[in-house]
Formats: sequence, structure tokens, C-alpha cells
Amino acid sequence: MNFENILVSKENKVALVTINRPKQLNALNKVTISELNAALTELDQDNEVRVVILTGAGEKAFVAGADIKEFADFDQKQGQDLAASGQELLFDVVQNLSKPAIAAVNGFALGGGLELAMAAHIRVASEQAKMGLPEVSLGVIPGYGGTQRLAQLVGKGKAMEMVFTAEMIGAEEALKWGLVNHVTTAEELLPLAQKIAAKICRNSGTAIRSTIKAINANYAFDKNGYAVEIEEFGNCFGTPEFKEGTTAFLEKRKPSFN
Ligand code: CAA
Repeated sequence: MNFENILVSKENKVALVTINRPKQLNALNKVTISELNAALTELDQDNEVRVVILTGAGEKAFVAGADIKEFADFDQKQGQDLAASGQELLFDVVQNLSKPAIAAVNGFALGGGLELAMAAHIRVASEQAKMGLPEVSLGVIPGYGGTQRLAQLVGKGKAMEMVFTAEMIGAEEALKWGLVNHVTTAEELLPLAQKIAAKICRNSGTAIRSTIKAINANYAFDKNGYAVEIEEFGNCFGTPEFKEGTTAFLEKRKPSFN
């Protein structure tokens, strides 16, 4: 896969997707969103890939938000379209990937950048990371799912404060808030994400795909999470990985999943 603004590599069943506009602090312009959509759609279908890690190029930023230069003269309709197409092409795609997405937050994750990290299933951050939703300082609100996902992750009160004040928090505070799962040094960030990915790869990919659907259902207004869980639980029984997992247990050996 060849792209202008992102890099994609694969190793040991783990894909690394790097947003690569470091001079613009990896801000998400239209091209970058469309390239991420293409790459993630392809990786989702790729049976050789079990986990996707998202990170930002350079030492400074994960992603510093939507590209302000691109939308500064938009009108109301264009603003709505920007949010709608971004959510559809990228943020919903990340959240609904059939394999775990881990955001490795290596620096500024602001606005659309934090929204991207929040759409991922797991977040790890380096000690340098700074996170915030500063949109109200620009006269807009988070438009890539931030008003919803931040409250889901940290609770309504903290979400309101972060958005109202437009202030950033550091990695340790984000850890306390439950916004990220782990904090580590800059050098250890990708190795940590890869270590989590390796643990995931030991387990059944089909069961993990079902888990993503069931957990996400709790946050979808048109779904009953318990009903989705029942359906997905049943679906597992029809998979070769269920046979392998249970057989391996009974034979007192480790399962071998693809
Ligand atoms: N969009 C476009 N360009 C951006 C950008 C963004 N979100 N963030 C940084 N850049 C660009 C800067 O314009 C600058 O480019 P030039 O050299 O061409 O001027 C370059 O990246 C480096 O940035 P700074 O010189 O500003 O670096 P700094 O170290 O002084 O500051 C920063 C770093 C605090 C992250 C600052 O860049 C900043 O505040 N960026 C904007 C953050 C922001 O408001 N994000 C939310 C965007 S709105 C949004 O995301 C809407 C949504 O939900 C849909």
C-alpha cells in the first residue's frame, strides 16, 4: 500500500499505521482521512493481520487534530459534511474494525487526534503525550465523535470540563482518568503496544471480533448489547476456533489459532 500521508507496515500479524505529516503535526486533512479509510478497510480484510496499531510520525505529535487550515473558511453545511464524512470514513471504521485497534499516543493528541485515539479499542501513551479537545477555543465543538466517546471513557463531568476549558492533560492524568490504559517512555511505547498485540494474537480472532461487536453494541442507540452478546456467543459455537480452543483445553495443550 502506497500513500502520501500515511505509512503502513506489517510484522508478526500486527499492522502499524503511522500518520505521516510531522511538519503539520500529523493533522488530519481530507487526503489523510481518505488514505486511512483505504488502509484500514484493506487491513480489516487481511487475514494475516490480527491487530492494528495507530501512531503518529515524529516525536511531537500523535495527531494535532483536524486540519484547521482546510476548514477555516467553511460554512455551516460544509462543517456538517466535514463531521459526517470524517466520522463515516475514519472514526466509525476504527471503532468497528473486526480486529483490535491500539492507539499508541506519542505526543499531542488534540481534537480529532484525541478523537481518533478514543475511537481505537485500546490506548497507550508515552510520558510526553498531551491530550485535549480544544475545539471550543476555535469556536467549534468536537465533531469526530469526541462529545460522545470522551464521556463514555471518562464520565460526563470530566468530559464537560475538558471540552469547556479546552485544556490539555498529560499522560499520567489521562491514566488516572481512564483515558489511556498504560503510560510508558517514548522508547517503550511501540514495544508496549506490540506486547499487548502479541498477547491478543494468542487468542481466537473470531471470538475477539465477536467481543468487539458486543461491547460496541452497548454504545449504539439502536442495539441491545445483551442481545448482541447472546447472538455473538452463539456464533462462536459455529467457528473452527471454538472447536480448537475447547479441544485444546480438553487435551491439556495450548490452542493454535491462526
Ligand atoms: N491543523 C492544521 N495545522 C496544524 C494543526 C492543525 N490541527 N496543528 C498544528 N498544525 C501546524 C501548524 O499550523 C504549524 O504549521 P506551519 O509551520 O505551517 O505554520 C505546524 O503544524 C507546527 O505547529 P505549531 O507551530 O503550532 O507548533 P507548537 O509546538 O507551537 O504548538 C500545538 C503545538 C499546541 C499542538 C499547536 O500546533 C496547536 O494548538 N494546534 C492545534 C490543535 C487544535 O486546536 N486541534 C483541534 C483541531 S479542530 C478539530 O479537531 C475539529 C474536530 O473535532 C473535527
